[in-house]
Amino acid sequence: MSGIAEANKLPQALTDDDFPTFTPDQIQLGQLLFYDKILSGNRNISCGTCHHPKHGTSDGLPLGIGEGGVGLGPKRTVGSDLIKKRIPRNSTALWNLGSKDINVLFHDGRLSKKDTYENIFDSPAEEWLPVGFDSILAAQAIFPLVSQFEMAGNPGENDVAGAAHDRIDAPWPIIAKRVRNINDYGSKFVSSYEHISHYTQVNIVDIANALAAFISTEWKSNDSRYDKFISGNKMILTNSEKSGMNLFFGKAKCNDCHNGKLLSDQKFYSISLPSFGPGRTRIFDPLPRDTGHMAETDDLSDAYRFRTPMLRNIKLSAPYGHNGAYPDLKGIIQHHLNPLKEKGLWKQEYVSLPSIQHLNMNDFIIQEDVREMIRQSSFIDIEPIKLSDSEINDLVLFMGTLTGDTIERIGIPKSVPSGLSID
Ligand code: HEC
Ligand code: HEC
Repeated sequence: MSGIAEANKLPQALTDDDFPTFTPDQIQLGQLLFYDKILSGNRNISCGTCHHPKHGTSDGLPLGIGEGGVGLGPKRTVGSDLIKKRIPRNSTALWNLGSKDINVLFHDGRLSKKDTYENIFDSPAEEWLPVGFDSILAAQAIFPLVSQFEMAGNPGENDVAGAAHDRIDAPWPIIAKRVRNINDYGSKFVSSYEHISHYTQVNIVDIANALAAFISTEWKSNDSRYDKFISGNKMILTNSEKSGMNLFFGKAKCNDCHNGKLLSDQKFYSISLPSFGPGRTRIFDPLPRDTGHMAETDDLSDAYRFRTPMLRNIKLSAPYGHNGAYPDLKGIIQHHLNPLKEKGLWKQEYVSLPSIQHLNMNDFIIQEDVREMIRQSSFIDIEPIKLSDSEINDLVLFMGTLTGDTIERIGIPKSVPSGLSID
């Protein structure tokens, strides 16, 4: 056996041409904003808190802890007990999201490019979404700001949260004003963007574009050993890694979904991960549950489907799945190979959820609802495949070859213009 996957099945290389370019000023401005808690209602959380370089641009938790929480990474806690709700999904890693090919974001796809119109997005803000975003990544950046449990805070606590309660677009001008009124930000926007000649012109779209310039550049990842292999360096992988790669693009059929330059077809499938947590409950839902893409399309056939993740640097961003159900790669891979069996073997101890009575009470209640569990199990888009233990280990080793040499470029700033603390 040659140990090299059939050439015609290997994806094309992901190159720098797949990404837009930005000026160093724009990238640095985005870096400051990304790590600055000024963007949150109560000035207590930044994008970087949940998307931290130390945790592979995620947070190391199954379900994130938003504003009001204390600490960073797996050690982050709900703090003073005042937190009303945990984040219902696993914080996504931010690798390669600047790629020009990205056309849908979030686990459930609630933000997408709408191909009928140029530069128009289908989003939760519907017609209230402002215009002028450079990319879908930029459009995404304004949503965490108005999410009560992520960054905005609760009504009555601050002006942003109060406005968010009125209408989704009401807080954006308030946040933009907060930012531009800090001299350092105001002057940096004027010097970084040609269309801004006075700080009073800075709006939320400019802030979002700067954030996206940073994310896109900082976490572009195309220099892993896998990338070098597909670009021609056939000596760079070990035999076990090559065997894992052969399985991935062959017998294990991983590339039915994880394919193309980004290793994702950006489509939606159900692999039937165990349900738990606060869910993204919709009106009429009897229990906390998360039906994934169905919430976006209102089509029953999309129930429990989630977007295929991209997998670069996957080793760095445990736990895995849209709700962080599996603490390691072996667990999530084994689950794919036989979802129903593995779901039966799954243990609540795999996920460490902060122990606070009012948050924990309902975490696993859905698993007691036999009918809902049968319904969930009836939506599965993946056929069982039998692999030996050593084949599964080779797949895990292959996942390791997806880790880039460069995992950050300009890093975390020493201080931010608001003077607030940095996580
Ligand atoms: C409280 C934690 C938290 C904070 C703060 C936060 N995020 Fe996220 N982020 C998440 C979670 C959880 C998801 C997945 C949500 C979903 O798919 O429903 C996510 C998703 C994303 C995505 C989509 C990625 C993808 O692959 O589709 C991007 C981009 C992103 N966040 C950027 C940001 C930016 C920019 C900020 C700051 C303005 C920010 N996040 C603040 C937790 C957080
Ligand atoms: C039918 C499409 C499909 C196939 C085939 C498939 N996957 Fe996936 N994969 C997904 C989807 C969808 C998710 C996210 C599921 C969720 O969060 O509910 C996922 C999640 C993952 C994750 C976790 C990613 C993260 O960020 O948490 C890994 C790792 C992974 N897949 C590896 C593999 C491997 C290895 C194979 C082959 C054995 C494979 N996948 C086959 C669709 C697929």
